Amino acid sequence: MKNILITGGAGFIGSHVVRTFLTRHKDYHIFNLDKLTYAGNLKNLADIENHPNYTFIRGDIADDKYINELFEKYRFDAVIHLAAETHVDRSILEPMDFIKTNILGTFVLLNAFKNLWNGNYEGKLFYHVSTDEVYGSLPLRGNGDELPKFTETTPYSPRSPYSAAKAGSDHLVKSYFYTFKVPVIVSNCSNNYGPNQFPEKLIPLVINNIRNNKPLPIYGKGENVRDWLYVEDHADAIDTIFHKGTPGETYNIGGAHEMKNIDIVTMICDIVDKKLDRTVGTAQKLITFVKDRPGHDLRYAIDFTKLHDSLGWQPETTFEEGISKTVEWYLHNKEWLENVISGEYLKYYEKQYKQINL
Ligand code: NAD
Ligand code: DAU
Repeated sequence: MKNILITGGAGFIGSHVVRTFLTRHKDYHIFNLDKLTYAGNLKNLADIENHPNYTFIRGDIADDKYINELFEKYRFDAVIHLAAETHVDRSILEPMDFIKTNILGTFVLLNAFKNLWNGNYEGKLFYHVSTDEVYGSLPLRGNGDELPKFTETTPYSPRSPYSAAKAGSDHLVKSYFYTFKVPVIVSNCSNNYGPNQFPEKLIPLVINNIRNNKPLPIYGKGENVRDWLYVEDHADAIDTIFHKGTPGETYNIGGAHEMKNIDIVTMICDIVDKKLDRTVGTAQKLITFVKDRPGHDLRYAIDFTKLHDSLGWQPETTFEEGISKTVEWYLHNKEWLENVISGEYLKYYEKQYKQINL
């Protein structure tokens, strides 16, 4: 049995990664280490919380002493590191937690992993989950027919405190490969959507606001483009890279589905209207153009040729299929939405778990 530490497993993507690894790999014991910030919610994992190969641990990845004791106790063979502060708007308002968790926290985990195995890295891996935002912003037009995309060799150019902190963590992870020979892999992924995403992010925010008949805020003119990937496809890509990837390498993960924000919001409006048996056009009346996000990146697009050609991965869920499933999920999980917005869900933690005493 291998001990695998997944950080941030109570969050959006982390909860799908925990479930994917637990169901696909019977010879792993999965430890989910999560601080349970506003974005972490154990209800995301209610279906697997009693699985014999699963242990939840509440803790802060930036707490050096605690993390080193945890690594000594459980001797993790591998780390899949997702814990982070993730919302760009919050990083503009309150950057401190982004620096502590994303930079210091990543360093603490990496250093604990290095100290634990101390050069004996056979069969070990530190897998760092990162974002395409580290590459900066792409134009809406290219020189010829081809529009530029981010590749693994695109120079880093982060433009928000969030992406700068993630870029810092990526560089630290790579530095441990070159300096100490720690086997590391970094993947940089485009925008995810799907069940369990905190309703501050564009897609769940819009669905929830339509449900509550509230304005749908679109930054600027809504012309910014994102490349959307269904979250279960991201979990599948992480599984593929974790098992087949080469240490020291970076892999880009993308959805091959670029869309302007205004088009996504309009599409969601019409899907919700249809699912709620309302006249199509009702929800669109809620669209409100608001002041732009400072430093708002214009376009993200991922070239995942390397991942496709070397490891055989590609996204399986079409955007039409994924967005329909996502809208359905949010419309049927009203209680989840209300719980996360009110913070009520944290009481569930207090009832179910106690902090592990080392
Ligand atoms: P999320 O905000 O939904 O969840 C983050 C999780 O990390 C939460 O459970 C939170 O409690 C936990 N956490 C935060 N600070 C912590 C700390 N100090 N110690 C321990 N746990 C802590 O995030 P997400 O959207 O699921 O993103 C997960 C990872 O994937 C992040 O590293 C993010 O940068 C990356 N990523 C996200 C996207 C996306 O579209 N959401 C795309 C590419 C990459
Ligand atoms: O690209 C990957 C990144 O995607 C991840 O690394 C981040 O953790 C994740 O939050 C996401 O970042 P974005 O800033 O792209 O996601 P967000 O949902 O905040 O915004 C998507 C787009 O919609 C962006 O162009 C800003 C715009 N937007 C967002 C909100 C919340 C609006 O127009 N209105 C809104 O109210």
